[in-house]
Amino acid sequence: MDLKLSVNNSKTTSINFHDNVKDDYLPSISEAELSDEKVLNELDQLHAELRDQVIVLGHHYQQDDIIRYADVTGDSLALAREAKASTRRYIMFCGVHFMAETADILKRLDQTVILPDLHAGCSMADMANRQYIDQAWSTLEQWTKARVIPVTYINSDAKLKAFVGDHHGVICTSSNAEKIIRWAFAQGEKLLFFPDQHLGRNTCYKMGIPLDQMVVYNPTMWNGGLTPEQVHKAKVILWYGYCSVHQGFTLEHIKRIRAHRPETTVIVHPECCFDVTHNADVAGSTNFIIDYIRKAPAGTSFAVGTEINLVNRLAREFPDKTIFSLSPYQCLCTTMYRIRPRWLLATYRAIKAGSPINIIRVDEDTKRSALVALERMLAIS
Ligand code: 13P
Ligand code: SF4
Repeated sequence: MDLKLSVNNSKTTSINFHDNVKDDYLPSISEAELSDEKVLNELDQLHAELRDQVIVLGHHYQQDDIIRYADVTGDSLALAREAKASTRRYIMFCGVHFMAETADILKRLDQTVILPDLHAGCSMADMANRQYIDQAWSTLEQWTKARVIPVTYINSDAKLKAFVGDHHGVICTSSNAEKIIRWAFAQGEKLLFFPDQHLGRNTCYKMGIPLDQMVVYNPTMWNGGLTPEQVHKAKVILWYGYCSVHQGFTLEHIKRIRAHRPETTVIVHPECCFDVTHNADVAGSTNFIIDYIRKAPAGTSFAVGTEINLVNRLAREFPDKTIFSLSPYQCLCTTMYRIRPRWLLATYRAIKAGSPINIIRVDEDTKRSALVALERMLAIS
């Protein structure tokens, strides 16, 4: 699908991007040329002036200069709930594409969802698409008579949410995965869990399912790299997908902490691989990590296995505790980081001018089916 890219309000060119985005892509070049100080000053004004019309939702991985404008911060589940509850005309989503799509599915008809940079995607969400899932599903249908329940992590395209809505399945986030998987096993005998193999494996293992009852379906291999026999024996079919940011944390990092700073609590996000999650002291969603650290006594030391903007913010917010990244490298989500104050300013200016840009719209058919799965998730969690 084509998008118009307006540069300096005079020329247009076309780029390909997500199917459901039809509005102008980037703001005029004037926002790109402003000094940081001018951007923040004007944003302060517009944010205050348009407060009645615009709610800004900020995921915890956003940079501080975006979080300062967020009316609400949260993890994926909390922000989905906020989007559903919000009554303001515009929902400014400072997060990534799948989150803004989720907001568009849950919002009221008279509201508009805006993503300040349309290129803020999620590499994990891109590891599964409708064509791959249809193919996997038809292979499973041929190979097993068991009832398979499809479960998609919320980090997925709206079309995959629609798929699970149409196939008696459900959506989960990192904070409700256990409840959702329990529900799914009450409906059927096997799960197809996509796209994050780690969240699926970590959660199912925690619930008592042994690793040898889980197999990995790799969409780039013939029949997913599996045999009918393997599928027959498995309770859980995990998709070969992962978060490249959380893959950055390794068992070596934990061993180093245990050896040199044994008093430290290792706390990680369940998108980390099995070895890391299994050997950490605690694991949970971003909201869980924040709450856990907040409630810990002063003087506690934490090595945190999640995105660096959140880790640094926690270190600043809780100076009575020692908080640092589990990895010696900067585990930055570069797509979350695409949301910059100047692009936020451009979207505010466009709202003020009466012609909003960077609107996220999910088509009606997809929306209808995806809503079934999202409402199911919200009811269970
Ligand atoms: P949560 O904030 O829901 O834990 O998810 C983390 C994440 O990777 C979002 O993309
Ligand atoms: Fe996607 Fe990982 Fe970034 Fe979350 S942290 S948006 S899962 S790439």
